[in-house]
Amino acid sequence: MSANSSAVRRDPGYTGLTTPVEALPASYYFDPAHYQRELKQIWQRNWIYICRSSALDKPRSYVTLDLDTQSILVVRGEDNIARAFFNTCRHRGAALCRSSAGRFPSAGIVCPYHSWRYSLKGELLQTTSAQPGDGFNRHEFPLYDLPLTEWNGFIFVALTERPPPFEKSFDLPINRLDDWQMASLAVGHTLKKTIKCNWKVFWENYNECLHCPGVHPKLAQLVPIFGRALLERRDDPSWQDHAADEDPKYAGGLRGGAQSWTMDGKPVGVLFPRVSEEDRKAGHLYLTSVPSVFIVTHVDYVRVVRLLPLGPELTEMSIEFLFLPETLADPQRNISSAVEFTNIVMREDAEICEVNQRGLHALPHRQGVLMPEEYAIRQFQDWVRAELTRA
Ligand code: FES
Ligand SMILES: [Fe+2]
Repeated sequence: MSANSSAVRRDPGYTGLTTPVEALPASYYFDPAHYQRELKQIWQRNWIYICRSSALDKPRSYVTLDLDTQSILVVRGEDNIARAFFNTCRHRGAALCRSSAGRFPSAGIVCPYHSWRYSLKGELLQTTSAQPGDGFNRHEFPLYDLPLTEWNGFIFVALTERPPPFEKSFDLPINRLDDWQMASLAVGHTLKKTIKCNWKVFWENYNECLHCPGVHPKLAQLVPIFGRALLERRDDPSWQDHAADEDPKYAGGLRGGAQSWTMDGKPVGVLFPRVSEEDRKAGHLYLTSVPSVFIVTHVDYVRVVRLLPLGPELTEMSIEFLFLPETLADPQRNISSAVEFTNIVMREDAEICEVNQRGLHALPHRQGVLMPEEYAIRQFQDWVRAELTRA
C-alpha cells in the first residue's frame, strides 16, 4: 500500500473516482482519420441542435447548417411544421441553398442549377426538361428528408434515419426545465467563437471543475464550491464533515447575496415566475445533450451553448441568451452584465481548451490520466468509446 492510499478516507456517497483512469488516446484529438470516424459514429448518428424555432418565424423561412461535408436544410412549411432535408437536389446533387438563412418564394424550393422545383414538404413538383424521359416518375425524387424534433422552441435534426430516442439524448428528464417556459423565451443576445481545439476537449473541460479555481477567478467567487474545485457537495471525499452545512462553499449554489450569473450577481431580467425556491437558490441548472449542446438556466435568463466541429482541431461555439419577452421589451433593463460575465467565463474556457489542445501532440504523450474529480469526464469518454464501437 502506498503512503498515499493508507490515509485515504471516502465517505459513503462520494462521487469521485477511486482509482486513476486512462483517458482517451491522444491521437483521438487530432488524427484526421479518427476525426472522420467520430463524425460518422457520433455526429451523424445523434440529435444535433440547429437553432431556435424563432429563427424560422414564418412559413417558408429556412436555415442551413453545415456539419463537415453534410449540409442540412430546415424549412418551415405553409402548415407551420418545420422539416429537415439534406441541402441537395435530387437531379445531379447541387446544393439547393447557398445562404445560411432566408425565405423561399411561394413557388417553393428551386434548385439554382437546372431549376427543379420542390414543395416545402420536399416533393419534387417540376423538372425543366422538355420531355422527362419515358418512365420518369417525379414522385420517386423527393428531397432526402431527415428526422426533426421541435421541442420547447429548440429545433434538433439527426443525420440518420434512426436516431436514438430524443428524450434519451439528454442527461436529465427533459421536463426538468419546464419551469423556465422555454418555448416562450426570446433570444436577447448571441455570441460565436471559433476555438482551436477538438470538440471533445471542450466537453471534457465542461465536465470538471478541477480547473475552476485557477482558470475562473470570478466564477469561483460567484459559485464558492467551484472555488474548491468541486461541482457538488459529494465530490469532496470527506463531505460528511459538512453534510448539514448550508454555506454555499459546501452546499453549492451562489455566494450570499448573489442571484444570477452576472457581473454583480444581481439579476438583469424579469425572474422566471414558476422556478422553485430550491432551483433559485442553486443559481444554475445544466441540461446536456452531447455532442452538440448544453442549456444552462439561471433565475432570469437561459444560456444555450451549441458546439459544431469544424475540423479535427477546430470547434465552433455559438451561444444564445434567452429571456422572457418582457425583459427584452423593457428599455429600463440592461442585459449586458449577464453577457459580460458569461463572456469572461467562456473566454477563459476557450483559451484553456486551446492550451490543452496544443500540448496533446507531444510524441511521448499516449494519453492522459483522469483524477478523482474528473468522474464526469470518465462518463463522457465511456460514452465516446461506446459510440465508436456501436454497430
Ligand atoms: S442539379 Fe438541381 S436541377 Fe439540376
Ligand atoms: Fe470552465
